[in-house]
Amino acid sequence: MSEEKKNNGPSENAEGLHEEVEEEVVNPTKNSVSRRQFLNYTLTGVGGFMGAAMVAPMLGFAVDPLLQAESGGDFISVMSVDDITETPQKKEFQVDQKDGWYETKVTRVAWIFRSGEDEILALSPVCTHLGCTVGWDSNPEYENEFFCPCHNGRYDEKGVNIPGTPPTAPLPAYETRVQDGTLFLSPRAQARGGA
Ligand code: FES
Repeated sequence: MSEEKKNNGPSENAEGLHEEVEEEVVNPTKNSVSRRQFLNYTLTGVGGFMGAAMVAPMLGFAVDPLLQAESGGDFISVMSVDDITETPQKKEFQVDQKDGWYETKVTRVAWIFRSGEDEILALSPVCTHLGCTVGWDSNPEYENEFFCPCHNGRYDEKGVNIPGTPPTAPLPAYETRVQDGTLFLSPRAQARGGA
């Protein structure tokens, strides 16, 4: 009797308690875990969305100037077309230059003149030999030419390099546009074919 009580009573009670405890613990645990998972998913989703919303503008700020650095920029109004003559005139104009997210004003120089009935040329003064500054008709020995004093570089009246002198290519030219009687130039001069 005492053994049966010892074997059955306590074990049944213990198992019963164990089962009850398991039901109380396991089922609520399943419920609470699923709630936690739901909350975790929700918070992770909301947190991720908020993080993306904060980081996206910063990335755009960082990348956008890098992408914009390659864009050509707008043409710049330089002078009235009526004032352009066959004799080259030296004109300075300012362009916006972007370096990353820094933006500065840079002064450009162009020799502007009529080279034909309807042709307007705007030439860079940067010598194609080693980058000195050329002048128009600046050497009495070489009239009506562009001349570079650094190594006696010479260009004809259209800015084409004269063979036998140091420069091996014509002076670069700005792209020209005429609108409402005003001459506009591209922000940068482009290289031209060699003589
Ligand atoms: S830099 Fe102009 S001729 Fe050399």
